[in-house]
Amino acid sequence: MLIDTALEAHYAERDENVRLTSTVKGQFELARMQHLLGQYLPDPPAVVGDIGGGPGTHARWLRDRGYSVELLDPIPHHVAQARAAGIDACVGDARKLPWEDEYFDAVLMAGPLYHLTCLEDRLTALQEATRVTRPGGFVAVVALNRTANLIGALLANELQQRQPVVQEILDTGFSPANDRMAETTYHTVSQLRQEMSGHGLRSITVHGLTGPGGWLTVALDAHFHHQQPPATLTDPDPLQTALTCSRIADRFPELLPASSQFFAVGQRA
Ligand SMILES: C[S@@+](CC[C@H](N)C(=O)[O-])C[C@H]1O[C@@H](n2cnc3c(N)ncnc32)[C@H](O)[C@@H]1O
Repeated sequence: MLIDTALEAHYAERDENVRLTSTVKGQFELARMQHLLGQYLPDPPAVVGDIGGGPGTHARWLRDRGYSVELLDPIPHHVAQARAAGIDACVGDARKLPWEDEYFDAVLMAGPLYHLTCLEDRLTALQEATRVTRPGGFVAVVALNRTANLIGALLANELQQRQPVVQEILDTGFSPANDRMAETTYHTVSQLRQEMSGHGLRSITVHGLTGPGGWLTVALDAHFHHQQPPATLTDPDPLQTALTCSRIADRFPELLPASSQFFAVGQRA
């Protein structure tokens, strides 16, 4: 069966279509994703695959910039939302892609690596993403940092309640399904590099998708998501402050572990 029912139940409870627009954290992640993609994508027109593309937030942005985008996701509701936005989308699984070899100029895979909790499945998905990318094209993936829950729970002042889960993630890189997440894989930087290697990708680079600036947005959402923050926290715009911080940090690889999410990219040999 294609769809994991637990995954489907997880996404039935939240509207993925507004995740990147309805919170400061989401808006920040979206801006950072666009910034990093802009460093690697070839000029349009080019054909880009969005694997695990959800309802198509990134696909729409790419389409609006002149790219030809094809999206794949296992959740039919996401695919329907993407199609409703005019995106060419199909139901499918990152482990068995429907496209021929070297079909895309670039591939984005933001989702499958943290949703696939078996190493073999993640390696298959990476192999597949590489297979459908043309030589010289980029494969970009998103992974979650193993330490992110510790810092996130701290900033939300929820560490006391969440400590057992946070501890398990730190110890194992895995969390079973809970009220916040479907079962999830969390990476270290070296683990992510290792998983990206051996599929025919060269020049593998790991960036902080969110970087240290992202923690400001996490704290704001945790404490003020449904209220107006005090003026001292809104002027100057905290989103710009967070972006400035992470752009400064981009030049310092030693700050990579301070990012809650990683953006890893490699070029097909
Ligand atoms: C948090 S959403 C991210 C959506 C979008 N890529 C983004 O960055 O906003 C993760 C997505 O990964 C998808 N996903 C999970 N397992 C997958 C798999 N095995 N193959 C392809 N997509 C998968 C989910 O259905 C979901 O839409």
